[in-house]
Amino acid sequence: VRAKTAELRRALGDVQQSLDARLRAEEEKDAMRRQLANVQKLESIGRLAGAVAHDFNNVLQAILGYSELALGQVPEDHTLRSVIEEIQKSALRSSNLTRQLQAFARRQPMSPQPVDIKASIEGMSSLLCRLLGNDIRLEWVPEPGVGAVLLDPGQIDQVVVNLCINARDALAGSGTIRIEARNVRLSPAEAARIQEIAPGDFIQLTIRDNGPGIPAEIQDRIFDPFFTTKPSDKGTGLGLAIVYAIVRQNGGGIRVESEPGQGAAFHIFLPRCDGEPQADPLPDTLPSPGSHKTILLADDEESVLLTTRHMLEKLGYQVHPVVRPHEALAFLERQADEIDLLLTDVDMPGMSGPELARQMRRRQPDLRCLFMTGHAFDFLGEQAPELAACGCLPKPFTTQVLARHVNEALTKT
Ligand SMILES: Nc1ncnc2c1ncn2[C@@H]1O[C@H](COP(=O)(O)OP(=O)(O)OP(=O)(O)O)[C@@H](O)[C@H]1O
Ligand SMILES: [Mg+2]
Repeated sequence: VRAKTAELRRALGDVQQSLDARLRAEEEKDAMRRQLANVQKLESIGRLAGAVAHDFNNVLQAILGYSELALGQVPEDHTLRSVIEEIQKSALRSSNLTRQLQAFARRQPMSPQPVDIKASIEGMSSLLCRLLGNDIRLEWVPEPGVGAVLLDPGQIDQVVVNLCINARDALAGSGTIRIEARNVRLSPAEAARIQEIAPGDFIQLTIRDNGPGIPAEIQDRIFDPFFTTKPSDKGTGLGLAIVYAIVRQNGGGIRVESEPGQGAAFHIFLPRCDGEPQADPLPDTLPSPGSHKTILLADDEESVLLTTRHMLEKLGYQVHPVVRPHEALAFLERQADEIDLLLTDVDMPGMSGPELARQMRRRQPDLRCLFMTGHAFDFLGEQAPELAACGCLPKPFTTQVLARHVNEALTKT
């Protein structure tokens, strides 16, 4: 009996072991299935972002263009000026947000430059106040002499806006959000505790709220894409994933501090850079009044066509606008003199911008071309390698940015 019992026990042990192994395999399979589902979700979000952003950027271009038109007609001392300027600023901020979402979905490299943290947070304060509403107090406490960080300028907005919206949601109505910025030097030991970043000089940006805090059991999942505790019409769970991606992409790290009932604090560490923060490009590239160059402008979106034409004329160019690509070709047939630049949209019904450029170059081989697009990615390299040397102007743009690109396209050798 004893021998049989021992045998049975061994057999039972074996069964238990294989059951455990099966269970582990099932769990791994489940985890992989979840990961795959996440990747697929991310991909479809990427496709969606691309499609929506293109149309959205055209709309923003019209908003920017029309507000510039309006500004041109409002007297210098009129109270409406500041209102229109706010419309412009908001349109530019929204375009930053689309760009960031596209960048996240496509994992596109950004163009980092020294960003003055203090100036950029102060620049978005009116936007933040509007997002937070009247019953949430916003405190901004920068340490004097807080330095610059190397980032794509839109990314800092993305980080701050996401964290502030999370704090607002946690506060559920009223409370205080405090943004702090200071210079810190992290020792190797301190740096290693923050996602093993390299030690050195950092800017520590803290966004703190006095809401209910983050429950300990979810603290290590809040940065996962699609992790959310909000109803599905309120949150997608992408906010912190985007913040994390941006911060890590720029060599920084994040530390979360939260005790139940004591609110939450997100400490963002970004490597400090000593370069001079770049000011917004000034309209120093305005063409001299004598430079009556001729531009053929093609865009199927009439509001974009109209406002861009106006911008170009204000800059002193002579503009021939066309809504359809074949009108551009017909124009070239009729025209005795050469045109100096083709400025064309990329996606137009009937013929793409690059195809239009190709056909026009058959008649005028040295034609200079500049493409405008609501897409975020490098389409020229993919679609038309021989046109890759031409410039690309992302929509939406202001007159200043347009001036710079057109000037570059006209003077490039
Ligand atoms: N300040 C905070 N206080 C309490 N909980 C927070 C705070 N910030 C984030 N969380 C928790 O982390 C979760 C994930 O945040 P995340 O920003 O990634 O997604 P979301 O806010 O739910 O949705 P989305 O940002 O996509 O609209 C939130 O659902 C919330 O449970
Ligand atoms: Mg969020």
